[in-house]
Amino acid sequence: MAQEDVFKKLVAHCKEYGFVFPSSEIYDGLGAVYDYGQNGVELKNNIKKYWWDAMVKLNENVVGLDSAIFMHPTIWKASGHVDAFNDPLIDNRDSKKRYRADVLIEELMGKIEDKIKKEVDKAAKKFGDSFDEAKFRATNAHVLEHQAKFDEVHARYKQAMNDGDLEALRQIILDYEIVCPISGTKNWTEVRQFNLMFTTEMGSTADGSMKIYLRPETAQGIFVNFLNVQKTGRMKIPFGIAQIGKAFRNEIVARQFIFRMREFEQMEMQFFVRPGEEMKWFEHWKTFRMKWHQALGMGAENYRYHDHDKLAHYANAATDIEFRMPFGFKEVEGIHSRTDFDLSQHQKYSGKKIQYFDPELNESYVPYVIETSIGVDRMFLSILAGSYCEEPVDDGKDTRVVLRLPAALAPVKVAVMPLVKKDGLPEMARKIIDTMKLDFACRYDEKDSIGKRYRRQDAIGTPLCVTVDHQTLEDNTVTLRDRDTMQQERVSVDRLYDIVSAKVGTRELFKQLV
Ligand code: GAP
Repeated sequence: MAQEDVFKKLVAHCKEYGFVFPSSEIYDGLGAVYDYGQNGVELKNNIKKYWWDAMVKLNENVVGLDSAIFMHPTIWKASGHVDAFNDPLIDNRDSKKRYRADVLIEELMGKIEDKIKKEVDKAAKKFGDSFDEAKFRATNAHVLEHQAKFDEVHARYKQAMNDGDLEALRQIILDYEIVCPISGTKNWTEVRQFNLMFTTEMGSTADGSMKIYLRPETAQGIFVNFLNVQKTGRMKIPFGIAQIGKAFRNEIVARQFIFRMREFEQMEMQFFVRPGEEMKWFEHWKTFRMKWHQALGMGAENYRYHDHDKLAHYANAATDIEFRMPFGFKEVEGIHSRTDFDLSQHQKYSGKKIQYFDPELNESYVPYVIETSIGVDRMFLSILAGSYCEEPVDDGKDTRVVLRLPAALAPVKVAVMPLVKKDGLPEMARKIIDTMKLDFACRYDEKDSIGKRYRRQDAIGTPLCVTVDHQTLEDNTVTLRDRDTMQQERVSVDRLYDIVSAKVGTRELFKQLV
């Protein structure tokens, strides 16, 4: 199935099974804003808990924070967002559609990379075990041609972005004949900068209101609380502050479902270090964060690092962790070495000293910062994209849709079903749920045939199903069915708790991180 079709199916699946709904749907929706349904909110909460526990529980020098969305507007002047949090936008005069110039160019580069990959895959299939990929890439005429084009676009793009040269960005779009996907024409306007922050008013106009911003990142809430946490927690450098919360950006190109939203959620951690030690910690967090992703078992080949060509105004090193989405490798998380930029700026704009006295060095300094920043919604999308699977069953007579979610993240851990709605089986099933629900998200289901009930649970990714039948009343055993293998085994009710616990806990995942 083409990847585009997979993505469409995934979006439809999210709606049908209560994961994600378009916001304000009965009023025809609101662009790039989404609501999470009964299963979506559970998956989202599990992702957040997996992150929080890995960052705050496993690292004794990382503590949490929950700062307000509304903050003093000068914070955004100090952070550089008022002046520099812009995207370069370009309009197509025929379709009247607006695009991000950088995204158009990145999509072009993605297409060239796809062409190279196709050539390599074709040759690998043809030559089998004897295939030497490095040699093929270095000698094949088609690959070399594509690679040369890629390198040329890439070099021009990097230069234009680093120089903030909007005319050069437009020239790349014209030179490589990038067309508007709607009108199919090259009738482009100039490239202009567009600030992404939403604004609102605080206080009544009669009293004089203040223009404030909806935060575009949670990070600044951490920076302005640095001294509060450091002093009250008696924290010693190096230490980190973690926070999960909403962020808002007036994205120009809000496409690809929950990949780019106007209201979204971030999980960010700022790690404060001695100046000069930032690269060591940058490498540390790069490795730790990649392990966190890969521990979920979605395949190491589906993740990669991508070093930034253009560094943000505050960074001296930056990399993304990308996941293979149905529309190519895309950023899920950013890891940035933010230098002492933010704390120094807040020191300057607030007029308050923001420094740390290092007892070992016997000196005060403004700490340097390593940031790890991941979008909850993007992580959610990556997990769903990596889990969605359609596979033939019953010797190819039927197809089942199964979400092979990491068990620890699944919205429902175990479904308990009486084979029939009589003879005391429902009561027995409820009894089992009563003992399990203290620790696990359980679901009771007695409607339709058992086969249909299994399919419903597969579709929301429930790792285990328990069926209660007449034999259960005789010998206290149930049928336990595994979502992925569809294997069924007879187990004692007394063993259920331990089996479910071993399957769905985060313990084994966390062991890979420490
Ligand atoms: N504090 C640094 C920061 O905000 P960023 O790269 O702009 O860095 C970090 O954002 C992460 O937030 C991204 O890797 C992505 O997962 C998520 N994110 C950013 N913009 C988003 C959007 N419009 N919709 C959904 N997630 C977004």
